[in-house]
Amino acid sequence: MSVTERIEELRSLLAPARREGRSIGFVPTMGYLHAGHLTLMQRAREENDVVVASIFVNPLQFGPKEDYQRYPRDLARDAELAREAGVDFIFAPSVEEMYPQEMLAQVDVARITDRLEGAARPGHFRGVATVVAKLFNIVQPDRAYFGQKDYQQLLVIRRMVRDLSYPIEVVAVPTVREEDGLAMSSRNSYLNPQERQAATVLIRALRLGRERIESGERNAQRVRTAMQELIAQEPLARLEYLSIADPETLREQETITAPAFLSLAVFIGKTRLIDNLLIETL
Ligand code: PAJ
Repeated sequence: MSVTERIEELRSLLAPARREGRSIGFVPTMGYLHAGHLTLMQRAREENDVVVASIFVNPLQFGPKEDYQRYPRDLARDAELAREAGVDFIFAPSVEEMYPQEMLAQVDVARITDRLEGAARPGHFRGVATVVAKLFNIVQPDRAYFGQKDYQQLLVIRRMVRDLSYPIEVVAVPTVREEDGLAMSSRNSYLNPQERQAATVLIRALRLGRERIESGERNAQRVRTAMQELIAQEPLARLEYLSIADPETLREQETITAPAFLSLAVFIGKTRLIDNLLIETL
């Protein structure tokens, strides 16, 4: 496995594979790898001749009051984990390498970015779409792997790929969870033991919502209220949003119909966590 910081070096490293018509799988990440990231990499390993992973904490997708500066970073550990997962090339550029000058050209995906994470984090998806577009142009993969944990991000990337005719297959990978159901996230490392315990409230609320729906409740507002009440019982948790929506348009449902997309964002102390469940059939 080789690690490079340079766009031009990565391009020359990938040139022989491309010439020989070998397939390239790509896993973009912000590093501080956990089992969720590694599952994406293993999947890419199974389905492609060459696997590239990027590790780049992208300043464009963080708001001014968010955790860009303190986001966890450990390239040496990440490189070892990625190697074990079967990655061939790690691209770990500096901010200067990716953004040597002000980014006048950026990518906006309209409408589906107005809601949920897009509403809570203005400019976030523009930063995500822009960096992923740039990484796609650098790596030129055949397939790119994204986690359902960041479901709206997956929708945004799929739409960008279609609308801008990227010749890339976007592969969605199910959310990997801790034993108690907490979705794996690099941000879980911010949690102290008490907060780590409280963080299970996200999956508990989602599962409660799913149970209510499975036992026949079709009034979305009643399900939201039950979920909100469960979250309110956790003193360390502060709900930012909670949604039961159409998984394509992300518009809120009044009467629940399948498929239904349950999602939420919750602050546990100062740490902002997100999670979701997709109910495919009723
Ligand atoms: P990051 O949060 O590092 O996540 C990288 C990829 O891993 C994303 O596709 C994300 O959905 C996936 N992932 C994270 N946690 C997961 C889990 N528990 N189970 C399954 N997949 C999981 O998402 C980003 O980085 C950035 O926005 C990025 C796409 C790299 C652009 O900067």
